[in-house]
Amino acid sequence: MSQLHVIDHPLIQHKLSIMRQSDTCSKDFRQLLDEIALLMGYEVTRDLPLEDYPIETPICMAVGRRIAGPKLAIVPILRAGMGLLSGLQTLFPVAKVGHIGLYRDEETHQPVEYYCKLPVDIEKRLVIVTDPMLATGGSATDAITMLKKRGVTNIRLMCLVGVPEGIKKVQEAHPDVDIYIAAVDDHLNENAYIVPGLGDAGDRIYGTK
Ligand code: PRP
Ligand code: URA
Repeated sequence: MSQLHVIDHPLIQHKLSIMRQSDTCSKDFRQLLDEIALLMGYEVTRDLPLEDYPIETPICMAVGRRIAGPKLAIVPILRAGMGLLSGLQTLFPVAKVGHIGLYRDEETHQPVEYYCKLPVDIEKRLVIVTDPMLATGGSATDAITMLKKRGVTNIRLMCLVGVPEGIKKVQEAHPDVDIYIAAVDDHLNENAYIVPGLGDAGDRIYGTK
């Protein structure tokens, strides 16, 4: 069964609270999201397997440890998922990057696919799907389905803020996918926005409203 990992380190709660404030500008919003991605990246990859290998220190031979695999891919859901990319790339500079374009229809709140470009060997990789907002869960559920259709079997979902109904939808559709999230908020409003949330993440990142 899918596990929910709530990563509520004090630093993350502090930064997320500033992001939530409506008077936080796009520049600060992006910067804080970037910093949170880096902090969350530690936890999302905490259980990566290690292997021993011989190293020579200035003093003697010793046993070093390195990550034994699997290779990583980061797949942001456009647009807002891009806000979590560079923090993860700081930690995993050689990870390949795919892009899935989905937008929510304003009336139905259903995700609509408009783009998909993935690394050719995506099915061999551990894929971290990023999207700051997990509202109805429709976008994340569909993005994961698209990856599975391409043969991907090892997927983690990294979000910033979600609500119980969105988490439940992803977990029911994809019980093999663990979810990493910084905060579980209260509910969705009549426009399917997260309450209290932080507003429209894409608009706040890119200053489009
Ligand atoms: C937002 C957000 C998620 C989606 C979450 O994207 O970034 O992708 O909504 O909602 P859901 O869980 O109900 O599917 P949006 O459609 O606003 O597109 P954008 O990122 O391009 O702004
Ligand atoms: N998408 C957002 O950007 N924010 C929400 O609260 C819900 C969906």
